[in-house]
Amino acid sequence: MKLLITGGAGFIGTHLVAHFVRKYPNYFIVNLDKLTYAGNLENLKAIESAENYKFVKGDICDVELIQQLFQEYQFDGVLHCAAESHVDRSIKDPLAFVRTNVIGTVNLLQACKEHWKDNFTNKTFYHISTDEVYGSLGEEGLFTEETAYDPRSPYSASKASSDHFVRAYYHTYGLPVKLSNCSNNYGPYQFPEKLIPLFINNILHNKPLPVYGQGINVRDWLYVKDHVRAIDTIFHDGDVGETYNIGGHNEWRNIDLIRQLCLLMDEKLGRETGSSEQLITYVTDRAGHDMRYAIDASKIGKALNWQPSLQFEEGLSKTIDWYLANEAWLAQVTSGEYRNYYQEQYSH
Ligand code: NAD
Ligand code: TYD
Repeated sequence: MKLLITGGAGFIGTHLVAHFVRKYPNYFIVNLDKLTYAGNLENLKAIESAENYKFVKGDICDVELIQQLFQEYQFDGVLHCAAESHVDRSIKDPLAFVRTNVIGTVNLLQACKEHWKDNFTNKTFYHISTDEVYGSLGEEGLFTEETAYDPRSPYSASKASSDHFVRAYYHTYGLPVKLSNCSNNYGPYQFPEKLIPLFINNILHNKPLPVYGQGINVRDWLYVKDHVRAIDTIFHDGDVGETYNIGGHNEWRNIDLIRQLCLLMDEKLGRETGSSEQLITYVTDRAGHDMRYAIDASKIGKALNWQPSLQFEEGLSKTIDWYLANEAWLAQVTSGEYRNYYQEQYSH
C-alpha cells in the first residue's frame, strides 16, 4: 500500500507517521507537510531514513504539487492530518484556517476523486477531525456521532466545514471516506501553545500560568498514542462512509488538571509542594470559550473493540517526563516566532 499522510511533522502526525512506518514495513509512507510553526522534522529523526518513508515539504493547497504526488506515487490511501489547529490563533487569523482546513481538504478530496475515478475499490480517504465541531456541552450529556454540528470558534467552524466536504464527496461521488472526531490529545511533541505543554514549559521557567476565565471549562483528555491506535483501527477495519468518535472517558475541569500538573511538576523538579500552584494567574477568558467537551466513544468500542489504554495519571506523568528529558526540543520550538505569538496572546 502507498499512503499519503498530511501534516506528519505536527503533534499527532509525528506519532501517526512513526506508528505506520514502523508497524507496516510493507507500506510506503509519504509525509507531506508545509512545516508551519507547528511542524518540526526533528520529531521524525528516528524514522527519517527508513526505506518505506519519504518526506515532502509542501502545501496541501498546492494543486499542482498534489497532482504530481498522486501521479508519482499512485496512492491507495490518504490519512489527512494537516490543519491549522489552535483555537486562539483562529480567533486572530480565521482566514488561515479557512485556507488550510477547508480549501486544503477539498483540494485533497478532488485529487483523490480524479486519480481514483476508474476504481474506488480498496481506496480510502481518512479525515482526522475534532470533537469541537459539535460545539459546547452543558453539565450533562456526551457528544455522539449523531450530535448536530454546532461549531463556535473559527477553528471548529473550519473543521466542521471540512468534515461536511468529506461527506459530500462520499454522497455525491462515492469517494470511499472514513472520518473520526477525537477529543483533546496530550503527549510528547505537542506544541507548547496548547494547555499541557504550555504550562509545563512555564512551570519549568517559573512563568505565570495563564488560566482563562475561572478555569471551570471541561475537556476530555486522550493520550496521543491511543488516538493513533484508534486511527489505525478505523483506517483498516472501519466501514466506508462511517464516522467514529474517539475519546478518553476522561473529563477534567481545567483548574483541577492544572493543580494535578503543578503537584507532579513540584515532585519531579524537587521543588517544595505548592510552589508551582503559586504561578496560577487567572486571565481574561478566551472569546467564545466552549464550556465542556465530552465524547461518547461507545461506537468505536463496540464496533472495532478500541479502548483507551492509558490512565490519565500515568499518561500525564509520562508526558511530563518526556518534556523534562527533552528541554532542548522545548527551547528550540519556543524560540523565534513563538516569542512574538506569546507576547501578543498573553500581554493583555
Ligand atoms: P499541529 O498543529 O500540531 O500540526 C499540524 C501540522 O500540519 C503541522 O506539522 C503543520 O506544519 C502542518 N500543516 C499546516 N498547514 C499545512 C498546509 N497548508 N499544508 C501542509 N501541511 C500543513 O496539529 P495536531 O494537534 O497534530 O492536529 C492534527 C489533526 O488532528 C488536525 O486536523 C486537528 O484538527 C486534529 N485533532 C487534533 C486534536 C488535538 O488535541 N491536538 C484533537 C482532535 C483532532
Ligand atoms: P487548548 O489546549 O488550547 O485546547 P482546546 O481549546 O482546543 O480545547 O486548551 C485547553 C483548555 O485550556 C481550554 O479550555 C482553554 C484552556 N487554556 C487556558 O486556560 N489557558 C491557556 O493559556 C490555554 C492555551 C488554554
